[in-house]
Amino acid sequence: MSTANLNKKTNYNVSFDEFDEIVNPPLEKVDFDHILDSIVSRRQALKVVSITGATVGLFAFMHSTPFSFNNADAKEFILDFKEVAANSLDTITVPDNFKWQTVVSWGDPLWNKGREFDHKSAGNAESQLLSFGDNNDGMFLFEHKGKMILAVNNEYANNDLLHPTNASKKPETLDDVNKNKYAHGVSIVEIENKSGKWTIVKDSIYNRRITADTNVELTGPARGSIYVRTDMDLSGTKVKGTFNNCASGKTPWGTYLTCEENFNAYFMASDANEKITPEFKRYGISIKDWGYGWGRYDDRFDISKVPNEANRHGYVVEIDPTQPNSIPKKRTALGRFKHENAEVVLTKDNRIVVYMGDDERGEFVYKFIADKKYDAKGDNSNILEDGTLYVGKFNDDGSGNWLILDEKSTGMKKAEICVHTRQAASKVNATTMDRPEWVASHPFKVELYLALTNNSNRGKSDAMPVNAANPRAENKYGQIVRWVPENNDHTSNNFKWEIFLLAGNPKVHADAYAGSKNINTNNMFNSPDGIGFDSKGALWIQTDGNYSNKGDFEGQGNNMMLYADPKSQKIKRFLVGPIGCEITGLCFSPDKKTMFVGVQHPGEDGTGSHFPGGGNTLPRSSVIAVSMKNNQAFL
Ligand code: FEO
Ligand code: CA
Ligand code: CA
Ligand code: CA
Repeated sequence: MSTANLNKKTNYNVSFDEFDEIVNPPLEKVDFDHILDSIVSRRQALKVVSITGATVGLFAFMHSTPFSFNNADAKEFILDFKEVAANSLDTITVPDNFKWQTVVSWGDPLWNKGREFDHKSAGNAESQLLSFGDNNDGMFLFEHKGKMILAVNNEYANNDLLHPTNASKKPETLDDVNKNKYAHGVSIVEIENKSGKWTIVKDSIYNRRITADTNVELTGPARGSIYVRTDMDLSGTKVKGTFNNCASGKTPWGTYLTCEENFNAYFMASDANEKITPEFKRYGISIKDWGYGWGRYDDRFDISKVPNEANRHGYVVEIDPTQPNSIPKKRTALGRFKHENAEVVLTKDNRIVVYMGDDERGEFVYKFIADKKYDAKGDNSNILEDGTLYVGKFNDDGSGNWLILDEKSTGMKKAEICVHTRQAASKVNATTMDRPEWVASHPFKVELYLALTNNSNRGKSDAMPVNAANPRAENKYGQIVRWVPENNDHTSNNFKWEIFLLAGNPKVHADAYAGSKNINTNNMFNSPDGIGFDSKGALWIQTDGNYSNKGDFEGQGNNMMLYADPKSQKIKRFLVGPIGCEITGLCFSPDKKTMFVGVQHPGEDGTGSHFPGGGNTLPRSSVIAVSMKNNQAFL
């Protein structure tokens, strides 16, 4: 699609993915050695997915990985439930012995002075600022002084639903733009279980809205640097806002990490001839925004007026949900890219390691090791202030390396590495991945899982050839890879990896697009995205994929959540979401009886959902609680 076509399209039927397809160029030119390497790896990988022996070759690779994952010590577990069939219903479907309820939805007021959600107007800036944000995504539950505090990302806004009375279905006035900004960010809300039903606690001292206008501090190597200073903030230390908060993380010291993903979509240029720098191009920043129009009322989002503002977003932001007046901190040491989640791991010797994906076609997976050690009895509030960044290389022989990003390896100073992280990673020849989404760490083992959601561009150019970890050209279905660090040490520079599953459709394909052998017509899905372990060591998989139930996706129905056993690699479908939704975000109650699950954008693109209200109500992103009918612990 051309930019001219983008102009014609309304904002709400261009996804972030499509938007980036339009504005984001292929990876930067690489040096000769890189090209040579790419050709070699492409040939090797092509052997794996050769036309004649696609299925056999690929599966042979999967089962010939020289490293064997040590599952001997893994606990056996089987959650007893009858697999849920795929469907296209406008509701939540869970197994017969489970139940679900809505906990909180977009527009629910968090304070009594707020207004109940108005299904005609969807409220205004004032009511939205006092309410739960739109498009809930990653979340974690914090237990503090006997209270349950839920911190939830509000990733973006469904413009057509947020502005239903505007002919354009977009923000038109200043109040609209403010309402839109306030639908973004993070919602922090106390919840309680009253007579078996989870509800929000209005007026709790912990309730808080963090939006695209909230005061945030810039910390770490990029703080105060030339890249982040603006006329409005000459010091380069005080940023306003966090937005496009995708997935999240939780630290051992009790803070919440919210990850800024498609921040580029909010920036525009009032000068139609504005020159887009290579640095901006690499992050998809362009003349036109995604339809939000924030730059029309707030100069920060106009790169013709405040060019450095875009360098102040795209970070992991640390928030203390127990301190409602605390200032969120952008942690530049963890790099600037389209952050998906931040999986925090504490090593045996008290090092803090954070695994992170950069969700864009052909981008990379990263690891951060903090300089300071964790001190269980001390103050860890600045532990994410500084450390070292590494980027992942997944070799075709099943080995892998973490490549350090420092001045020696990249020729870039530390502040620049932390701002132009993608460029730094390209210089060390990291492996281009099929859109890295969540990373999840096994609770009993030193073993990591990474969801690679899909990649329609894979194999189309020399810049993104197929490779063993991303083995299918024009990958519609996605895969999950897992790796074990050398010596079971998260700080090691080496690891062994294998493919845990290749999603696919065995109903319509007999080749590599059928998926790996643990995928069958009963459990099939596409586009794994959110992943996370429960305390028993089961891997939960959430999907953000094609829900047309047609063609390549026939028989897969709406987006869903699946249950996977890392040991047997068996997978069962556990939950199916309503029409047009993505299932994203999960966390657990401390008593292991409730799983909180995010239902994002039901009814997107006018697909006709009325979830959760039914009737003629507007569809609303919601957090739901899933538990057993007999109220037993199951997580
Ligand atoms: Fe916000 Fe990559 O999902
Ligand atoms: Ca996601
Ligand atoms: Ca996704
Ligand atoms: Ca989404």
